[in-house]
Amino acid sequence: MSKVSWRRRCSLLGLALLAALLSGCDLVQRQSIFDPLGPIAQQQMSLFFWTLWLSLIVILGVGGVLFYAIIRFRRRPGDDSIPPQTHGNAVVEIGLILIATIIVVLVAIPTMRVNFAIGVRPELTEDDIHVKVTGYQWWWKFEYPDLGIVTANELYIPRGRRIVLDLRSGDVLHGFWVPRLAGKMDLIPNQDNRMWLITDDNTPLGEYFGQCTQLCLGAHAYMRFRVYVVEEDEFDAWVDSFQRIEPLRSSTEAGASAQLVQSDDPLVQQGAQLFRNKGCAACHAVKGQFGGAPDKPNLTNFGLRNWIAAGVLENTPENLARWLRDPQDVKPTNYMPTLWAEDDPNREAEIQAIVAYLHSLGRDPNAPQAELGGNYGN
Ligand code: CUA
Repeated sequence: MSKVSWRRRCSLLGLALLAALLSGCDLVQRQSIFDPLGPIAQQQMSLFFWTLWLSLIVILGVGGVLFYAIIRFRRRPGDDSIPPQTHGNAVVEIGLILIATIIVVLVAIPTMRVNFAIGVRPELTEDDIHVKVTGYQWWWKFEYPDLGIVTANELYIPRGRRIVLDLRSGDVLHGFWVPRLAGKMDLIPNQDNRMWLITDDNTPLGEYFGQCTQLCLGAHAYMRFRVYVVEEDEFDAWVDSFQRIEPLRSSTEAGASAQLVQSDDPLVQQGAQLFRNKGCAACHAVKGQFGGAPDKPNLTNFGLRNWIAAGVLENTPENLARWLRDPQDVKPTNYMPTLWAEDDPNREAEIQAIVAYLHSLGRDPNAPQAELGGNYGN
């Protein structure tokens, strides 16, 4: 078998593999920049495609001339003559410089326009929703300083309002990105980065997927978050669900905090006791009940959350139990300790109690079971 046919076979195989790979591409996805749903992401995609089409024209133009020259001027069999030797061609050279200049201008003007429209560090105004975002290995703290809210991994934003995000890191480099709403920006230790995003009437209400985009070791791929775009009144209700909780007045009050749990359900009461006695409360704050630590996920209104472990599992009782039973199995390398030995006879009962307690947070005990949680902003 000749070399040529092998080469042809290889390239055919390569093309078939590429086709198979590309057939798996779906441009409309939860984290696709090709399916933008916010004005900023839309401008960025338009700019991207404008540059892409221009580049395509350049590639086709240059490639076409190259192919034409290769085929038209190739050496013919039996022809050993030297082609005419030339040097320089003023028309071609000036023409190419002009074309190149026009292309650069055509790329530069829209790029500058988009950059000045969305890339400039915003000044905070009274109409903005101000959120301090802190990246930790491997979760997100979302703090609304004007509203007195500290939460984790789920960002609520009212549609149509400008959101100003101050991005910090609590440890290593992270990257904030909600592909369908806005561009991304890094969270860098000891540097104050600020970005903004906005939604409009064309932005569907609901859940948007976000992801850390800088390799921050360990569970980087599991450092996800969600953005919930809601109507103004639903946002106000969400804010109110935090603001109506009376804060702890002193740290000594936290000791008696199990009594602060408002539920009559004995399982929830037991869960609150365990939450303190097992040490959960040393890290996790619950407004009005436990002080926690500022650099660990705040679990206030945890019952209203849709996801567990920074967007890894849906917040169902079964999944929460699985997470508590073996956090490393759900999200390898994370810093949540395993609190029960495998042969601990009380393990399942205690986990059920803590699940009941956590799921009671922020939920109306009189609401029918079917409506509890998992439906905020969906
Ligand atoms: Cu944080 Cu990757």
